[in-house]
Amino acid sequence: MFTIGVLASGKGSNLKAILDYIKKEKLPIKTGVVLSDNIESFSLKIAEKEGIEHLCIPEKRHKTFLSAGTEEKYVKKLKECKVDLVCLAGFMRVLKKVFLQEFPWKIINIHPSLLPSFPGLAAWEQALNYGVRFTGCTTHFVEYGIDTGPIILQAVVPVLKEDTPESLHKRIQEKEHLIYPLTVRLISEGKIKILNRRVYISNI
Ligand code: GRF
Repeated sequence: MFTIGVLASGKGSNLKAILDYIKKEKLPIKTGVVLSDNIESFSLKIAEKEGIEHLCIPEKRHKTFLSAGTEEKYVKKLKECKVDLVCLAGFMRVLKKVFLQEFPWKIINIHPSLLPSFPGLAAWEQALNYGVRFTGCTTHFVEYGIDTGPIILQAVVPVLKEDTPESLHKRIQEKEHLIYPLTVRLISEGKIKILNRRVYISNI
C-alpha cells in the first residue's frame, strides 16, 4: 500500500482534506504517521480521532528550522513507518539538505500563492498588498530553499475588491483542499514524473 507521512504545525485542514478524499475515493493510500513540532497542533487531534499514529517532535533551539538531532528523529520515524511520500501541510520549518537527501523528490508541500510569486509567510497578505488580480495555491516538490522546487499543480483564485487577508486566505484554502489531495493521488498512482526539474503529469 502506498504510504504517506504528514508533517503539520497548525490547524491541519489540509491533512483533514487529504484523509477525507482518501476515504471518499476509497484510494489505496495509507497515512502511516502524522508528525508535528507543535503539541497544540490540531493535526495531532485529527490523527488521534482517525486512529493514525501521531507524535509531537518539538524543536526547542530554533524557530524556523530543525536542529540536526531533531531532523534525525523525524527521518527515523518516517523511515520506521515506511512512508513513500512526505507531505508538508503547514509545517512551519525549513527542511535541511540531510532530510531532503533521505527522501529524494519524495517530499511535497502546499503553498498559498501561485509560486514563484510570494514565497514565505502570509502569502495571501503579500498578494493583497502587492495588488495582484489573481493569486492561488501551488503544490510542489520540496528542494533546498523557501517554497522552491518543481511545481506540480496550481489553482487560481481571483482577488476581489472587498477582500480582507482573512477572506482571501479562506478562498485560497478551499482550493488547497482540492489540489493537495489530488496531488497525493496522482503521485501514488505513478502519474507524476520529474525530468530536468520539470514535472510531467500523465492521463488525468
Ligand atoms: C496552508 O495555507 C498552506 O498553504 C501553508 O500552511 C497552511 C496550512 O493550513 N503551507 P492547514 O494547517 O492545513 O489548515
